[in-house]
Amino acid sequence: MTRKIIIDTDPGQDDAVAILLALGSPELEVLGITCVAGNVPLPLTSKNARVICELAGRRDVKVFAGCEKPLQRPLVTAEYVHGKTGLDGIELPAPTMPLQDGHAVDFLIETLRAEAPGAVTLCPLGPLTNIATALQRAPDIAPKIAEIVLMGGAYFEVGNTTPAAEFNIHVDPQAAEIVFKSGIPLVVMPLDVTHKVLTTRARVEAFRALGTPVGHAVASWTDFFERFDMAKYGSQGAPLHDPCVIAYLLRPELFEGRHINVEIETQSELTMGMTVADWWGVTDRPRNAMFMGKVDAEGFYQLLTERIGRL
Ligand code: RIB
Ligand code: CA
Repeated sequence: MTRKIIIDTDPGQDDAVAILLALGSPELEVLGITCVAGNVPLPLTSKNARVICELAGRRDVKVFAGCEKPLQRPLVTAEYVHGKTGLDGIELPAPTMPLQDGHAVDFLIETLRAEAPGAVTLCPLGPLTNIATALQRAPDIAPKIAEIVLMGGAYFEVGNTTPAAEFNIHVDPQAAEIVFKSGIPLVVMPLDVTHKVLTTRARVEAFRALGTPVGHAVASWTDFFERFDMAKYGSQGAPLHDPCVIAYLLRPELFEGRHINVEIETQSELTMGMTVADWWGVTDRPRNAMFMGKVDAEGFYQLLTERIGRL
């Protein structure tokens, strides 16, 4: 029985690896890919999503453009991490597959309305603007969503964009607040766990050793992507943030976390976008999120390399 998912994304090299992991995994049925402004502006994220699908030989995947800016705040992008194109590291041909007509939010609403209760898992890999907009415009879709498995936030690892906030949540804190207060079951992959799946020379060479165009592209992207984190953190590699979302769907036992209350700071400029995680249960606020903290990194890279090797 395949699992129906919709990937919401702002590609970004790590988004690209997550999308490829999903497309290389027969357990998952990708109903569509919805693009949002984030790492780079919407015209680029919606182009990059198609570049990735064509690299995987999947021109059949429906790709939609969504929100071009956050609900309230000005758009903040991350070319300093992902490069001007958002997929720097390798030159790939411009996509020939078209964007689907219609807005990503309409696709989310129409698709979810047509599905049975609990039939679809949403996999946001960027700012939550599309997801929040869909929930605001059509609250009736919430019961159709089995769970939302997202990359975002940070607690023990603290922020990567401000001292308090991780990028995806920082870009659109108001959207994150809507999602975290929605009552829909959440599985959160914060920096606390994504910073434990760092690339290493051996791991990148394993991608390259696949000897396929996809393996070469993934190795080139991770080579490019890691320079920023290595300079900033002095680490030996870069965190492959977004693939943690898809790996969880395939092998949840790779991850460990706690079901706790997580709320979003939306009032203070100092801590705007912070995911305030009640890790020690000091409040009686509702437990709304499975907040991950540990991962079997070796198992993660084995899964990733094996699945990407199928493309
Ligand atoms: O903070 C990491 C997140 O921000 C990842 O999703 C990365 O792609 C960027 O969107
Ligand atoms: Ca992303």
